[in-house]
Amino acid sequence: MLPQQLTKTLAGAALLFSATLPAQAQTKIAADDIREKMQWFADAKLGIFVHWGIYAVNGVDESWSFYNKKISHADYMKQMSGFTASGYNPEAWADLIAESGARYAVITTKHHDGVALWPTKQAHYSVVKNTPAKRDLLTPFFAALDKRNIKRGAYYSLLDWSHKDYPAFTKDSNRYAIKDDPKRWQRFQQFNEAQMQEVATLFKPDLWWFDGDWEHSAEEWNSERIRKNILDAKPAAIINGRLQGYGDYVTPEQNFPVTRPRFNWWELCMTINNNWGYQPQDTAWKTPYEVITIFADAVSNGGNLLLDIGPMQDGTIPPQQVHVLKELGKWNKKHEAAIFGTLGGLPQGHFYGPSTLSKDSATVYLFLPGKVTGDVVLKGLKNKIASIKVVGTGQSLSHKVVGKISWSPVPGLVYIQVPPTVQDDYMSVLELKLDGPVSLYQGMGGLQ
Ligand code: GLC
Repeated sequence: MLPQQLTKTLAGAALLFSATLPAQAQTKIAADDIREKMQWFADAKLGIFVHWGIYAVNGVDESWSFYNKKISHADYMKQMSGFTASGYNPEAWADLIAESGARYAVITTKHHDGVALWPTKQAHYSVVKNTPAKRDLLTPFFAALDKRNIKRGAYYSLLDWSHKDYPAFTKDSNRYAIKDDPKRWQRFQQFNEAQMQEVATLFKPDLWWFDGDWEHSAEEWNSERIRKNILDAKPAAIINGRLQGYGDYVTPEQNFPVTRPRFNWWELCMTINNNWGYQPQDTAWKTPYEVITIFADAVSNGGNLLLDIGPMQDGTIPPQQVHVLKELGKWNKKHEAAIFGTLGGLPQGHFYGPSTLSKDSATVYLFLPGKVTGDVVLKGLKNKIASIKVVGTGQSLSHKVVGKISWSPVPGLVYIQVPPTVQDDYMSVLELKLDGPVSLYQGMGGLQ
């Protein structure tokens, strides 16, 4: 394993760890208090992540390239002179995001390299001061989102490897240790909190997407104070789980849960190729089919998908990413009822595929990946089925109950035949209306 990969993996592990919300946070942030404000997030299912920064100029790893010494810090920062945003069209970005079906978008206000995309008043890098883009890139984007009723999300890197008062610089060199110079750390904290305050005041994010918390503890960051400041500025703001235990939901990164996460709210953040930012040599594009099946799987397990795009330095979104967002959008439009505002689906064992439930649990949606040749089978359903329809087509289907024994409480198996003519190119969805809230048999077939 290359050192760079190792570092990434370690960072990922730390993130997953921090994402498990330590007991201390659970007592501080009672789930009941946040349930109401989390509702839009729970219903939203899809967000679009935008990683845009000077790293798109040379197409190198966002911030990590200098941290991992693939490039010197000086050369990395030279990219500032090539960052033009010359073709940036925030309205077109927002149109595309709306077209994908996403209900929220999260943009990098500042990555680990410290370059702010807004005109920060703090003495540090910004695209306004230090690049030919010379303007605030965030205000028009958030305004364009507002117009389309898409929630505003602000990614903010807590750590800042370019800041003179931040302890870590590259993977093997630190500027100082906090214990040796606590005043210097305090100076950094003041700077960092001042920037966060600017973001809070200027953009009033509905969602704060912190990153980089793994380098310091909750005490060192003063996570409690950061959370308080954010909520004082906007009580309804949602905070992701990268604030050392002070967030509202967890964020597995590029890793797909197999068992349903134990948390009330979670969000899988994922790239369309293998990198967050624009990297022309990375052609490992996920197909629309892959993205749609991953999305359905996340929603089936009660989570959201935050799907990343990495625009070029001039603001062009790579065509492969546009293609995926458009295809996903078409599919979402057709299958809207089965996805948005639903609940996580049936527990494992009843149906071999993703599923969701309507809020009253009286409708089950079954997702059928690819082309179905045989019958679809559902196990352990106690309810009577009132109707079955293929979502987005209006086509009704019949079903057969197989093996129901009159003297046994164990339900029969439901077999549904899905004719090829009604099948979607990516994923078909069946809507099963039941005679009441779903009721499941989960026993071992009459054995005790
Ligand atoms: C990681 C990386 C970062 C990326 C983020 C997105 O934590 O440090 O480069 O922005 O994940 O989830």
